[in-house]
Amino acid sequence: MDRYAVIGHPIAHSKSPQIHAAFARQTGQDMSYEAILAPLDGFAATVQAFRDGGGRGMNVTVPFKLEAFALADRLTARAQAAGAVNTLAFGDDGILGDNTDGAGLVRDLTANLGCTLTGRQVLLLGAGGAARGALLPLLAAGPAALTIANRTLAKAEALAAAFLPNAAATRLSACGFDELAGRRFDLVINATAASLADEAPPLPPGLYADGALAYDMMYGRGDTPFMAAARADGAAGVADGLGMLVEQAAESFTLWRGLRPDGATVLAELRRRLG
Ligand code: ATR
Repeated sequence: MDRYAVIGHPIAHSKSPQIHAAFARQTGQDMSYEAILAPLDGFAATVQAFRDGGGRGMNVTVPFKLEAFALADRLTARAQAAGAVNTLAFGDDGILGDNTDGAGLVRDLTANLGCTLTGRQVLLLGAGGAARGALLPLLAAGPAALTIANRTLAKAEALAAAFLPNAAATRLSACGFDELAGRRFDLVINATAASLADEAPPLPPGLYADGALAYDMMYGRGDTPFMAAARADGAAGVADGLGMLVEQAAESFTLWRGLRPDGATVLAELRRRLG
């Protein structure tokens, strides 16, 4: 049986084993998927041991995505752009590093939430690893404008400058939160870590255009602070990042197994279990 795993520290909370088990059942794939806790100073050794034991691939989560990037022998374009790796595939020719987070986000937005990105005004909040990981797939979806807003303006500006060559027809720009006053967006994506501190990013009111969607990459029980603030500010739709979690897993599964599972049914099942 082909073995896969998610590796992180901590790892007990990970939903990836149940998501991949559901994908395997759905597609009739004979595979196992486990959760592996690596010591903070033992990422590469733990990956090596899993590979030596017949492992075919791994998902990588906090805090090892940069180490996985460094460990890979080859990188996909989206992993290169993200500067981080969340998926490893072991082959005869070495370790391939991929990053499926941004593609998972775009897939959740378009396939599960019915959100059109092409030609739209998109606001991305945050300029850390989560924002960087989403940028290449977001730009590939062809929004009219993509604005990166961050608490620390210089980080947003650096990120926009780095992705300018990938912007094609999209107007890519950077600003601070205050400069958003008076502007309206069709889609606002929260890629800041503010929810971890139980906070919403400090945004000016009136951000949401008619029919706009507010999307938080984080998820939890009920609304995150960003989602609650977006509802209060008149967003027509709000969504958390559980669908992104499922769809990034679906992208990894597709890379490993060569066939795409249906994320929507697994997402519905997961939401039912979360209550
Ligand atoms: P991640 O990998 O989750 O993106 P990160 O690289 O540490 O984590 O980036 C965290 C992001 O959340 C940054 O954009 C950070 O803003 P700064 O660059 O100004 O630090 C943002 N962030 C964290 N806490 C925030 C808060 N309370 N309000 C707004 N933005 C916040």
